[in-house]
Amino acid sequence: MSEFSSQAPSANHVAIIMDGNGRWAQSRGRPRLFGHHAGAKRIREILESCPELGVKYLTIFAFSTENWKRTQEEVAGLMTLFRRYIIRESQSLKESGVRVRFIGDRTRLETTLVDLMDELELMTCENDLVHLTIAINYGGRDEVARATRRLAYDVKSGRLSPKDIDEETLPKYLDTLVLPDPDLLIRTSGEARISNFLLWQAAYSEYDFVDTLWPDFTREMFAQALERYRKRTRKFGGVLI
Ligand code: FPP
Repeated sequence: MSEFSSQAPSANHVAIIMDGNGRWAQSRGRPRLFGHHAGAKRIREILESCPELGVKYLTIFAFSTENWKRTQEEVAGLMTLFRRYIIRESQSLKESGVRVRFIGDRTRLETTLVDLMDELELMTCENDLVHLTIAINYGGRDEVARATRRLAYDVKSGRLSPKDIDEETLPKYLDTLVLPDPDLLIRTSGEARISNFLLWQAAYSEYDFVDTLWPDFTREMFAQALERYRKRTRKFGGVLI
């Protein structure tokens, strides 16, 4: 390990594209939803390891704006899984100091799910140990479009002047408003693309594409990804001095 890497800080904010649930299930001759259930169980181990690994913010991609194209059975199964996950995990998330937030467009989600999401956000709003953000019906392009729409209304009503719109102003309209940009973006399952996740926010993130399917992704693999991150040199478009 180089002198630089041993001194480099850990990633404060890690975003994860939890890919490979379907293939994991199919390789066992099981339906895709079986893989999503296994994937949901995996979240706890990764989340619990965050404090000791120095990760304050964890953002996970649970359902994209494109995922509606899946079969009605898979979509409905995922929505039920999200509801059950919230009901089952709420108390433990609250007691373990996790602050939960949701990003994405809630208008297309069922009210029963949105109510549970609102309730969990409220229940955990005073926690500060780890900030877990769950992206449901989230798409980076959709988020920028929604942000632009809100910004346009503010311009129209005179609350914002076009000359004040810059790189500092626009993020205030994004779903991630209070979150820092991700330092590291991990995608499991061997696919090397970001699939419309955090397009604005991940402009300078480090990317780590891991071959393991999400239900097999362990705490040790997470720690290894963080170690690889620490060995990288981040320049943010500048030069090292
Ligand atoms: C991608 O794998 C995964 C998803 C679209 C769903 C992610 C959901 C979970 C991990 C579980 C539920 C989450 C919460 C927050 C309770 P894929 O199905 O596209 O895998 P494949 O590429 O192998 O088909």
